[in-house]
Amino acid sequence: MPLYQNLEALHRERKKYLGNQCGLVPTMGALHQGHLALIERAQIENETVWVTIFVNPTQFNNPSDLHAYPVRLKEDVDAIHKINPNIHVFAPSIKDMYPKQVHAELHACNGLDAVMEGADRPNHFNGVITIVSKLFEVINPNRAYFGEKDFQQLQIIKNWVKTANIPTTIVPCSIVRENNGLAMSSRNELLTKATRAEAGFIYKTLEQCASNGMKKEAIYDHITNMFAKHPTFTLHYALCVDETTLKEVAEVNALDKQRLFVATSVEGVRLIDNIALK
Ligand code: PAF
Repeated sequence: MPLYQNLEALHRERKKYLGNQCGLVPTMGALHQGHLALIERAQIENETVWVTIFVNPTQFNNPSDLHAYPVRLKEDVDAIHKINPNIHVFAPSIKDMYPKQVHAELHACNGLDAVMEGADRPNHFNGVITIVSKLFEVINPNRAYFGEKDFQQLQIIKNWVKTANIPTTIVPCSIVRENNGLAMSSRNELLTKATRAEAGFIYKTLEQCASNGMKKEAIYDHITNMFAKHPTFTLHYALCVDETTLKEVAEVNALDKQRLFVATSVEGVRLIDNIALK
């Protein structure tokens, strides 16, 4: 079973595959179908696949969110090895990843972190880049796979890789959804059954906005009205932005690459989602 729970074991194994095309799927565990889809894609495109499982403390703003984050290493490793028993799993300790200080380094994100999740969760993306850069350093992947649910994270990582000349291709992967449309997330399991079912309205609302050629103001009004019908969900933002700059667009049009993002909280759980505007 290729499971490495410390850096020494990881280094020893990683050395054996240096000539191989290597795909990395970084995760915080509590794997769901969305993660498994990333791993399956990485399997197709690489000779060796490395999945990391590490709940990264420096990207959490809220200690209660960190403590509530689901952890189940054994089930995760079993699910990965069901896909292929040769997939390498690296599940390091905090001391391995942060030997001196549990601390997020400052990263210039070209303004991409000034909006949405970056604005609501100060230092979050510094924590993400800090851990992703440590994982890239030890695994040195040819490709790394990230889901589009965290689209802002994906753009920030792409920008970081480009700015820092990191020779890893970032592979974006489509959002995987539950039957009711809710974007898959490890946090969904923290919701009660009834709320998880109700949360399907989020994607339905996004779809209505994206498929009806609505203007920006009409989109914002529609989202406000739909959330008013689901009062236990607090809407943090709804924003139509340019996909590359993540800046709010002046108007929605079919020519530019634009995306609609929402963030909401319910039962103390933050949920985010997005959709391409056509
Ligand atoms: O998307 C995630 O699960 C995390 O932000 C990541 C990329 C694994 C870094 O901790």
